[in-house]
Amino acid sequence: MKLAVVGGGSTYTPELVDGFARLRDSLPVEELALIDPDTHRLELVGGLARRIFAKQGHPGRVVTTSDLEAGVAGADAVLLQLRVGGQAARNQDETWPLECGCIGQETTGAGGLAKAMRTVPVVLDIAERVRRAAPDAWIIDFTNPVGIVTRALLQAGHKSVGLCNVAIGFQRRFAAKLGVAPEQVHLDHVGLNHLTWERGVRIGGPGGEDVLPKLLAEHGDSIAADLHLPRPVLDRLGVVPSYYLRYYYAHDEVVRELQTSPSRASQVAAMERELLEMYGDPALDEKPELLAKRGGAFYSEAAVALAASLLRASHIPADGDVQVVNTYNNGTLPFLPDDAVIEVPAAVGGDGAQPLPVPPVEPLFAGLIANVTAYEDLALDAALRGGRDRVFTALLAHPLVGQYDLAEQLTDRLIAHNREHFAWA
Ligand code: G6P
Ligand code: MN
Repeated sequence: MKLAVVGGGSTYTPELVDGFARLRDSLPVEELALIDPDTHRLELVGGLARRIFAKQGHPGRVVTTSDLEAGVAGADAVLLQLRVGGQAARNQDETWPLECGCIGQETTGAGGLAKAMRTVPVVLDIAERVRRAAPDAWIIDFTNPVGIVTRALLQAGHKSVGLCNVAIGFQRRFAAKLGVAPEQVHLDHVGLNHLTWERGVRIGGPGGEDVLPKLLAEHGDSIAADLHLPRPVLDRLGVVPSYYLRYYYAHDEVVRELQTSPSRASQVAAMERELLEMYGDPALDEKPELLAKRGGAFYSEAAVALAASLLRASHIPADGDVQVVNTYNNGTLPFLPDDAVIEVPAAVGGDGAQPLPVPPVEPLFAGLIANVTAYEDLALDAALRGGRDRVFTALLAHPLVGQYDLAEQLTDRLIAHNREHFAWA
């Protein structure tokens, strides 16, 4: 089996490689191709990747290349984990919306629209080249904003599934609190990428006993503390929102915090410099502790599980093949268009991901899901066709913007900061 990683020079890659090494029984990777235009990073990350495989006795070969076609040729699955414009562009997404009193975040709000607009054309170009060089390969998209990017890929007819680590993160943390194995925990996870709620925590399988009320009663304080939300908010919701919901439920509070603290991008950039220096040390042969300070915890496990299910010999999913992914709605949430991309548990097999049925969604969650879906639709239109009006319309539709004067100000800033990425501007 051959896997290719576009954006393989990411400082996150050792996390992925560590997962491939540990979980080699479920995913026997014979060749891992790390593809990146940045040859310096590739050399550092590739070197560490080889040492991690060697230390763990993994027989797989790690190749590094800046030639996309050569890297993906013969691949069974291609992981996309790139960041157009790097941390510098992210820093801008996190900064200029704050000037208008809005959230500065890489996937939520105006910054997320900027990221979508920079990213969608680049990802579609890469996917087209993947389709020619490796026509049967699955595309697993980690590239943010995952909901919009996955929708762009699916609309263009690519064999793709979108993936995020939020659900697996909750699964692992809840399992630890409950004292059970992570595989035993099934989440009733519903919503859109970075806009999700855990409405049930079931033990043993999708139909197992729901222990969420017990979990909230016994561990509500620590769950609330992790999310930086007051405990009574959790109790009233009766579900566990992802930490991205804080940008909605505590918008003004978060804006004040962000206005007086260094951006996440600047913190990550500093960590990346340190990580790259460590990766260059020939004595390092495991993923460093520092990597745990990044938001991507458990993403390797999610990737291995998804790739294993997509690439299994049988097209029929097995019991263990229920995973939370981003894919077409197709009637799962009846209040959304079929071609909306949602994030829910799905049965995954050789034919792709089929969402499991979802019980009716309460208005409190459905309203926001529908609103953000409409925004994502307009955001994708802006990303594909460009133009100031489309940027403005997408922002006006976003529940965290909504007012025309704010949308005007944000539109001007978004275009001014991203002109070099927009062919039309
Ligand atoms: C979580 C999200 C990812 C996001 C990451 C950011 O893992 O699910 O989509 O990219 O956080 O982490 P960072 O360390 O870059 O802030
Ligand atoms: Mn994510």
